[in-house]
Amino acid sequence: MSHKIETVVFPVAGMGTRFLPATKAVPKEMLPVVDKPLIQWAVEEAAAAGCTRFVFVTSPEKGAFMNHFGDAPHYRETLQARGKTAELELLQAGLPANAEIIETFQDDPLGLGHAIWCAREATGDKPFAVILPDDMVQHTTGCLAQMTAQYAATGGNLVAVENVPADQTHRYGVLDPGVETGALVEVKGLVEKPAPENAPSTLAIIGRYILAPEIMDTLSAFKKGAGGEIQITDAMAELIGTVPMNGFRFEGTRYDCGNRDGFLEANLAFSLIEGGAALKQRLRPLLD
Ligand code: UTP
Repeated sequence: MSHKIETVVFPVAGMGTRFLPATKAVPKEMLPVVDKPLIQWAVEEAAAAGCTRFVFVTSPEKGAFMNHFGDAPHYRETLQARGKTAELELLQAGLPANAEIIETFQDDPLGLGHAIWCAREATGDKPFAVILPDDMVQHTTGCLAQMTAQYAATGGNLVAVENVPADQTHRYGVLDPGVETGALVEVKGLVEKPAPENAPSTLAIIGRYILAPEIMDTLSAFKKGAGGEIQITDAMAELIGTVPMNGFRFEGTRYDCGNRDGFLEANLAFSLIEGGAALKQRLRPLLD
């Protein structure tokens, strides 16, 4: 089977309750880090990794994604008439010229595993990537590009992992790790949201996955797991022994933009890259 990853799935049908009231009318993934919404950072990361098919699993109430990535004739024509070429380029919203955009719906937020299953017609019989836009990774080489470079050697299911504080394991899918070879960690088992005393390690999955097509059959059993939701971690755990399963220790700093502090931290970190020393100087008194 070819290990080239053309399709990326963005599950963006969640409710974003931790960010209310900001997420009442604006989806969490449309909140901006510096001057781009989270979803655009994610799309650019996928494009840099070579993906050309972009699948948005959204809810029927959320039209913002297609508006953001679709044509905006009024804007386009006005900017053209005024000769604003730099601004016109920004209207492309980070999509490569050959991009195929697919929108599919998750009618009820039944869990991440269910959201991924909703993309099954678009992913077909090939391995595909999943990016959760609310996890951002800052590095010169995008996290997904780091993973696709590894995937030819591993195949199967590959997940980005990092160590989290021991008292945070209940927020993640956690690995029962086996042998480590370079950046790769063999996965012997997986537990979704374990209490610290039950966690097999502190090595947790963050929002980047490359999944084997077999995952869709497993998900179609609609088994509920932690929190009564259909969990992708449980489906991957079921496939251990059938398809290769590895963790990947990525390079870079992760920001959890699904909560306020992580989101603010990401905004600062990404602003400082562009704003440089001058911005740092202006921020210092605030921080002190
Ligand atoms: P989260 O676990 O952060 O859930 O989802 P959430 O609903 O977005 O936010 P909170 O916890 O209520 O604040 C991680 C990713 O999975 C998607 C979300 O949109 C987000 O990108 N997701 C989650 C779905 O698409 N469908 C679901 O049923 C659950």
